[in-house]
Amino acid sequence: DNLHFEDRFNRKFYYLRLSVTDVCNFKCTYCLPDGYHPTEKKKPSFLTLDEIQRVTGAFAECGTTKVRITGGEPSLRRDFTDIIRTVASQPGITKVATTTNGYRMAKHVKSWKKAGLTHINVSVDSLDPKMFHQITGENMFHQVMSGIDAAFDAGFEQVKINTVLLKDLNSQELPKFLDWIKTRPIQLRFIELMQTGEMDDMFNNHHLSGVSIRNHLIGNGWILKIKSNNDGPAQVFCHPDYVGEIGLIMPYEKDFCQSCNRLRVSAKGKLHLCLFGEHGVDLRDLLAENGQRAELIGRIQGGLQQKAVGHFLDEGNSGMTPHLASIGG
Ligand code: GTP
Ligand code: 5AD
Ligand code: SF4
Repeated sequence: DNLHFEDRFNRKFYYLRLSVTDVCNFKCTYCLPDGYHPTEKKKPSFLTLDEIQRVTGAFAECGTTKVRITGGEPSLRRDFTDIIRTVASQPGITKVATTTNGYRMAKHVKSWKKAGLTHINVSVDSLDPKMFHQITGENMFHQVMSGIDAAFDAGFEQVKINTVLLKDLNSQELPKFLDWIKTRPIQLRFIELMQTGEMDDMFNNHHLSGVSIRNHLIGNGWILKIKSNNDGPAQVFCHPDYVGEIGLIMPYEKDFCQSCNRLRVSAKGKLHLCLFGEHGVDLRDLLAENGQRAELIGRIQGGLQQKAVGHFLDEGNSGMTPHLASIGG
C-alpha cells in the first residue's frame, strides 16, 4: 500500500486538522472568555499560504484525504479563500472542511464553496439570541443563522453544527435543538465540555456529562448508527421522524481515543498528536522552502511514534492546552 501515517497502536491518519490562526472575534465563556490576546509582544506570525501549501502537500503525499481548516476563527484570515483553494488543489485531498463561528459566512460562504470547500461546521451554542450572546460574548445570533441559510443556498447538502451544552446555561434547550433539526439536513453535534488549562471554575460549574444527553436521546427513539471507519470519535444517532442527525462527542468515555483518526498542525506550524497533554513537534523550519518534503515527512512520522494511546483527561490531565483556540479544536 502507498505511504501513509500510522501510529504504534495501528491507528491510521488520513485526516489533518490545520489551524490557520489563533485569533478569534468571539469570546466563548469556555474558550476565550476575555477574547483573544496574543501571548507575544510582536504580531504573531501564522502559517503563510506557501507554508500551508507545503505542509498540506506533504500530508497529501502520505495519504491524507481530508483537511479541516480551523482556528481560532479561520475566516478572519484575509486570504481564507486562497487557503481553501490551496488546500483543495493538493492531489489526493478530496474533502476540504472548515469549522467556523459563522460570523463571516452569510457574506462569503458562496466564494468558499467555489474555492473548493466541501464540508462546513458551525458553532451554535444557543437558539435563543440572548443566551447566544451570553455564551459567545457577541450579539451575532441572527447573523450566524443567516450564514447557515446561506450555506444551504450555496449548495452544501449538510451542515454540521457544534453545540456545547452547559449546565445551568443552555442545557434546557436540548428539546428546542432537537426540534430545530427535525426538518433540516443538519448533523448537530453535542460536544461535552472539556477541561482545558485555563477554565477550572467554568468546568466545575457547567460541565454536563454526555451520558445524560445520550440517555435522553435513547429514551426518545434515537438510534445509534454503526460506525464507519472515517467517523472518528463521534457517536452518531438518527431518528425516523427527523431529517437531521445527532453526533455526540464524549471525550470522557472509555475508549474514546481508540477511534482517533486525526492529526493536528497549529497555526504556528507545530504538529500536535492530541488536543491535550503534549507540546507538539515543530515543523516550521522545514516549511520555509520547497525541497524539504522528505525531511518533513520523516519528522512527522518520527513524531507520530510518540502519539499516546489516549488523552488521560480522566486522570486529571487538563494541563498543557490553555484553550482549544490555541490548537485548532
Ligand atoms: P468531523 O471532522 O466532521 O469529524 O468533525 P469534528 O467534530 O472533529 O470537527 P469540529 O472542528 O467541528 O470539532 C468539534 C469539536 O469536537 C472540536 O473542537 C473538539 O472540541 C471536539 N473534538 C474534535 N476532535 C477531537 C479529538 O480528537 N479529541 C477530543 N477530545 N475532542 C475532539
Ligand atoms: N470543550 C468542548 N468544546 C469546546 N469548543 C471549544 N472549547 C471547548 C471545550 N473546552 C468547541 C466550540 C466549537 C468547537 C470548534 O470547539 O464550541 O464549536
Ligand atoms: Fe472563538 Fe471558537 Fe473559541 Fe468561541 S470556541 S472563542 S468561536 S475559537
